Amino acid sequence: MASDKKKTVLRSANWFGTRDKNGFMYRSWMKNQGIPEHHFEGKPVIGICNTWSELTPCNAHFRKIAEHVKKGVIEAGGVPVEFPVFSNGESNLRPTAMFTRNLAAMDTEEAIRGNPIDAVVLLVGCDKTTPALLMGAASCNLPTIVVTGGPMLNGKHQGKDVGSGTLVWQAHEEYKAGNISLHEFLSAEASMSRSAGTCNTMGTASTMACMAESLGTSLPHNAAIPAVDSRRYVLAHLSGMRIVDMVHEDLTLSKVLTREAFLNAIRTNAAIGGSTNAVIHLKAIAGRMGVDLDLDDWKEGRGVPTLVNLQPSGQYLMEDFYYAGGLPAVLKRLGECGVLNKDCLTVNGKSIGENVADAPCYNDDVIRPLDNPLVANGGICVLRGNLAPRGAVLKPSAATPALMNHRGRAVVFEDFEHYKSRVVDPDLDIDETCVMVLKNCGPKGYPGMAEVGNMGLPAKILKKGIKDMVRISDARMSGTAFGTVVLHTAPEAMEFGPLAAVQDGDMIHLDAHNGVLHLEVPDEEIAARLEKLKANRVIASTSGYEAMYRNHVMQADEGCDFDFLVGCRGAEVPPHSH
Ligand code: FES
Ligand code: MG
Repeated sequence: MASDKKKTVLRSANWFGTRDKNGFMYRSWMKNQGIPEHHFEGKPVIGICNTWSELTPCNAHFRKIAEHVKKGVIEAGGVPVEFPVFSNGESNLRPTAMFTRNLAAMDTEEAIRGNPIDAVVLLVGCDKTTPALLMGAASCNLPTIVVTGGPMLNGKHQGKDVGSGTLVWQAHEEYKAGNISLHEFLSAEASMSRSAGTCNTMGTASTMACMAESLGTSLPHNAAIPAVDSRRYVLAHLSGMRIVDMVHEDLTLSKVLTREAFLNAIRTNAAIGGSTNAVIHLKAIAGRMGVDLDLDDWKEGRGVPTLVNLQPSGQYLMEDFYYAGGLPAVLKRLGECGVLNKDCLTVNGKSIGENVADAPCYNDDVIRPLDNPLVANGGICVLRGNLAPRGAVLKPSAATPALMNHRGRAVVFEDFEHYKSRVVDPDLDIDETCVMVLKNCGPKGYPGMAEVGNMGLPAKILKKGIKDMVRISDARMSGTAFGTVVLHTAPEAMEFGPLAAVQDGDMIHLDAHNGVLHLEVPDEEIAARLEKLKANRVIASTSGYEAMYRNHVMQADEGCDFDFLVGCRGAEVPPHSH
């Protein structure tokens, strides 16, 4: 319903509202697009920040979504203006889309602040696009609403439902173990990705869509409606209508993105079996908003049951999740067990508790009831110890229970290239009790912190039918991946974190139940090894964006933002350009 209140002074009036030379210039050029005079007379100007790109296949349908947002904006009396920002697509971009997340965030922030807009709709989908745009928008703090592109339909392969990403890891291991042919392996490609949209598993894209909804930054159901479902376009239309009212209500992002909202998101991540990447992204978004959030806040999620039975932790896919009731059904159940702060304000002007009070669940196998969870104690484990003084993470629902407390001999890979050449060596001294350690894949080491933490097992171990081993690295892992994988070890090896000191044959003890990651080497010996590494370090020279990245990226526990980008700088109107 349209608000009665009208905002009397619009930010955009600083461009379009004057009858002088400057007003003439701003309006005149805009009029070349056929915008009539009355659109410059006190109507809220709504920026539609679009990550559309044919190189980001998950977001390739966004021009159409933008059209529906525009219809809603116009219906509510606003003026829509669509603009592009850097689109960091997960599947094509090298070395990793994470390398350019902060670049996209900078692009978003400056595009919002520098332009004549009163509020912004963020069109996001593929993994890094959601945090990047929320980070940029948080630093500006205008009224902001998230519209996600929606997940792909379920993959269908050989008569079975198959999940994005998860099928790649599974099929590749099967192929390496000699269980399927090359033809069978390759034939799965088209079956997996058969409609527009983001990965249909509870990977990072779906996780971040759920994070945006649980933070209150989107309308209810935004996370799960499939990309090609007509209700996705209705949601885009309604979001377009709503953002105009948010201008009149002055409902800025900081009123939604409170510390309590972030804690709700952390608990929601546990309930959905969400990606470990959310640890980094939520920290980065909170940092932009000036909200205190640290790694230990993830302990809030431990003890929360995982209710959503989706791959990679469970069985189903996002399409099933939407039909079962979507995120509102999950949030309602979290409310029932007392772990949702129901008072948090959301972008529709209601509290999150009000939004989900009557949310139905249509399938208790997809969204489990509280007394029959997929995992009783979900969430993300925060580990600390002499191997990770500033923390590391592990996702118990994707891990093998028997390996959660494990002591084993380290087999060390100095970097990902070393891993690739060494893991195929049939003479490599390794068995399933060993701990695979991968170094120099952290934020600075890779650079960009690649999703290689779930490094594949050696073929000779896979052939024994073994599917999991303890793996430790400073890398990230795709949200679609699984295994007993310790990630985000901080400080990273490149920054001379203790991970850099591990050598073949060292014993490592992982005790995930007690949050401990211990290298059984005396402190003095670790220090001596690190000193030796420092003395021998050759710093490769870099230029361009990579140089800025290496000089300014922070460690995983700090969200991997650039140090100089932390904080909210607001959206004060900059001086005229002419
Ligand atoms: Fe884009 Fe998974 S690769 S969402
Ligand atoms: Mg991913």
